[in-house]
Amino acid sequence: MRSLLFGLIFTFISQVAVAGEGMWLPLLLKSLNEAEMQQLGMKLSAEDIYSVNRGSLKDAIVHFGGFCTSELISPDGLLLTNHHCGYGQIQQHSSLEHNYLKNGFWAMDRNQELPNPGLTATFINEIMDVTDRVLAFVNDDMTVSERQTMVDKNISKLRKNFELEEYQDLVVRPFFEGNQYFAFITTTYKDVRLVGAPPESIGKFGADTDNWVWPRHTGDFSLFRIYAGPDNLPADYSDENVPLKSKHFLPISLDGVEPGDFTMVFGFPGRTSEYLPSYAIKQLVEKLNPAKIKIRETALSILDKYMREDETVRIQYASKFARVANYWKKWIGESMGLERTKAIEKKEKYEKRFTSALPKDSPYRTILPEFEKLYKDRAPLAFVRDYYSELTGRNIEMMRLVRMGQSLVSNYENNGEESFIEYRDRVKPSVESFFKDYKAEIDSEVFEALTKLYKSNVDKAYVPRMMHAKNDEDMNGRSTNSSDFVLHHTVFNKKDKLLAVLEMEPSEAVETLKNDPLYKFGEQWKMLYDEKVANPLNKIQFRMDSLQRIYMKAQMEVFPNKVFYPDANSTMRLTYGQVNGYSPQDAVYYTPVTHLEGVIEKYVPGDYEFDISDKLLELYRTKDYGPYADANGKMPVCFIGTNHTTGGNSGSPAIDAHGNLIGLNFDRAWEGTMSDYNYDPTICRNIMVDARYILFVIDKYAGAGHLIEEMKLVHPKSEME
Ligand code: ARG
Ligand code: GLU
Repeated sequence: MRSLLFGLIFTFISQVAVAGEGMWLPLLLKSLNEAEMQQLGMKLSAEDIYSVNRGSLKDAIVHFGGFCTSELISPDGLLLTNHHCGYGQIQQHSSLEHNYLKNGFWAMDRNQELPNPGLTATFINEIMDVTDRVLAFVNDDMTVSERQTMVDKNISKLRKNFELEEYQDLVVRPFFEGNQYFAFITTTYKDVRLVGAPPESIGKFGADTDNWVWPRHTGDFSLFRIYAGPDNLPADYSDENVPLKSKHFLPISLDGVEPGDFTMVFGFPGRTSEYLPSYAIKQLVEKLNPAKIKIRETALSILDKYMREDETVRIQYASKFARVANYWKKWIGESMGLERTKAIEKKEKYEKRFTSALPKDSPYRTILPEFEKLYKDRAPLAFVRDYYSELTGRNIEMMRLVRMGQSLVSNYENNGEESFIEYRDRVKPSVESFFKDYKAEIDSEVFEALTKLYKSNVDKAYVPRMMHAKNDEDMNGRSTNSSDFVLHHTVFNKKDKLLAVLEMEPSEAVETLKNDPLYKFGEQWKMLYDEKVANPLNKIQFRMDSLQRIYMKAQMEVFPNKVFYPDANSTMRLTYGQVNGYSPQDAVYYTPVTHLEGVIEKYVPGDYEFDISDKLLELYRTKDYGPYADANGKMPVCFIGTNHTTGGNSGSPAIDAHGNLIGLNFDRAWEGTMSDYNYDPTICRNIMVDARYILFVIDKYAGAGHLIEEMKLVHPKSEME
């Protein structure tokens, strides 16, 4: 009896996920996490975090524009998120005269708050497990498409059964690769205004050099406000709108953090893949990441050259550059981390344990061998896919306009003039805004460099004829370098010419587009790609997806005591851990909190990444920190913890044991960015701005004390004593 009990306890302890790993569904905290969280120091109950019956923490957590997280920090709809999440908006409002990127922006009263058409703020009203309803009548004998048809049918039936308010939406999402389904009732507000942003020298201090890096010294925050109609419900932008009164907002703790303190991070993590087989990781590290890294490096070096030459270009390209550079750097860290933590070996060992636990005749025995074959077949195709999508979808900007051109033509050819006109009128504003921040010269150089890279790295079979052409008949018999010809004669990198084509009679516009050399080039490339890459790849991917679902189910059956968490899928999750340093390499240990002293140490006058404004220097010299300094009189800036986060968690609140805001998540430490595939508690750390630094910047730096007044500042630690 006793040994049995011991055995049970032992398996329990050894199977429980490490504190830190996991992105949990708020709905399931009570059953899966509450006990552990309280053991780690949390003073709240699961019901305080997620409740449908009363206001709870979840009512202060807002999906920001669908790509970041934000949280309410006042009873008047004041919303906190990252500077890099609000970056597009801050940039849109900026010009050389009003350079809010450079100088910051602060609305000194509500009339000065700036509207942002298109920007949304989404609340989660309720989460429901709808697995039974979505998987009703689904069985293992069905083919994948039969299964999908049944699932789709069940979901649309389910939708009809919900009585939603007009402003609500119901989102149903697969979890555990489609073994479970959850539904989310959401409410989306559409009038979200910019309230404040520090200058880049604070909000983006260290820029790309420090991005993904600890120790960090960035005040990566900005402030928005949600406006509602007079009835407090979502409404389009209007003068009549009023600040939102929400069910909950987060008080802000002035007590700061110490190593070992409990922390949780609440938000909308985008995507992780923790349950892939070792073959997937191997392919990523050996083939796909290196290719994507090289492509972006090539493009970035060109952008960088032009940005350094011209301040206007720097403003125009700042946001694009940051976006491309961000994942470029992440992939480098990710590959390094996967290698250093021996992720492939770890997975292989896990797979051995999995296989040896299976009965001899288990149907699951074929899963891993089949994966091995599928990944092998996929390798060359996935490589070209990444090349194609990096070039046409991301780095060569004019190719995005070509895509729009292709849709115009197909609208015309398949649905006639009216459909052409409707689509054209819809995309015209985006064409205009495309050219607002565009330099054909730069894009042309990127085009040249990347098509050259494509030709030398991608198998000939996937290179379109026009990319080969030097001076042959493909180029209408002209003896000129092919890309020179294309770039010179196309309308897609020339604003006025392209807009003029859009204004033509539909039939004439379609003719002109189809004769455009870049359009032809894009068509050729796309046709080749669809036939030789997309179609075969989709077939493989289709099989992989269903095999991954079966593998997931099998893992859960084979390791019944292991607590699994679902991969991130942009739905609301909570992760928790502790404030904690780490050792990135032998003999080096990083402590978990940085201070203003560190900003000063990194200061390089005049540098575009590490410059500091006189005002901040002055505050530092006079130690004018107001009530925001720590117990030693120092100004904390950032801290790290073991919370398991990913892209999309940017802007997520870091919350203390009592439910108060202590920081703002904005990054991960480089050595641990492989946590998307392989979380390792020894080196995976999320990076947060200390809430006290945010308050200090708002109050002391910007003189926007009126904003502090609407917040609720608390001292949870001193109150405990
Ligand atoms: N690495 C962070 C994230 O993934 C911050 C990115 C923005 N900052 C930058 N320097 N690019 O979003
Ligand atoms: N900066 C990321 C974001 O925009 C968060 C960092 C991460 O990937 O963990 O969501």
